[in-house]
Amino acid sequence: MQAEVIIVAAGKGERMGRELPKPFLPLCGTPLLIHTLRAVAQSLFITRIIIVVAPEREALCCDLLRKYAPLRIPVTVVHGGAERQDSVRLGLAALESTSEIVAIHDAARPFLDRKILECSIEAAADYGGALVAVPARDTIKRVAEDGTVLETIPRQQLWFAQTPQTFRVSLIREAHARAVAEGVTATDDAALIERLGKPIKIVLGSQQNFKITTPEDLQFAEALFLNTSKSNESTKKTGDE
Ligand code: CTP
Ligand code: MG
Repeated sequence: MQAEVIIVAAGKGERMGRELPKPFLPLCGTPLLIHTLRAVAQSLFITRIIIVVAPEREALCCDLLRKYAPLRIPVTVVHGGAERQDSVRLGLAALESTSEIVAIHDAARPFLDRKILECSIEAAADYGGALVAVPARDTIKRVAEDGTVLETIPRQQLWFAQTPQTFRVSLIREAHARAVAEGVTATDDAALIERLGKPIKIVLGSQQNFKITTPEDLQFAEALFLNTSKSNESTKKTGDE
């Protein structure tokens, strides 16, 4: 199985409230984007990675790619657009003409598990589209603007969408072209496929694959990273003994 990956990293990170956008902020000393790239590069399915960045961050991105150990996978940097959907569309335009499957992943989700990525690629090959998601665990309320509860929404069928969202290239290109033609914007790529009435297979994600959005998320990510590194270290030691 083979696929290309588009990592979208062209956002402004407004909710993080820092000068640099999230992908360029350090997570335990290494830029978030590099953590995400390394996670993606774990999979032998991946033939090429396209990083989508804002034009003014291209130089910084290329510096980081030179500075950190090169990956075995070719990496191409392209310019993004004003909305995430624009950035994805511009990334899609940069795929190899022979590419059949593409996984679209947020730079701001550095804890991607190789198996989840690979399951999404296999599901996309079978169904056309695959969405990594986790089932809702908490009780969900619909709340009025004045802050009072309107109702409790049954959560049995509710899932939180994550990335990667993985598709047959022809299908996701068609969905984006239709969205442009019809002036539609959506917050994720799967929604553009849903509009076409085509199936999207759910692939079980993980709580670790959360999106770093706020300063608290970054602190939590640092703690998680340190903890994971420590437990990997102790597994290695036990294995050595
Ligand atoms: N993204 C992008 N191009 C955009 C907007 C977002 O490539 N025009 C990317 C972000 O860089 C991020 C991912 O899409 O990796 C998910 O978006 P989000 O978490 O909303 O990031 P930002 O848009 O950067 O953050 P904010 O909404 O707080 O400004
Ligand atoms: Mg955003």
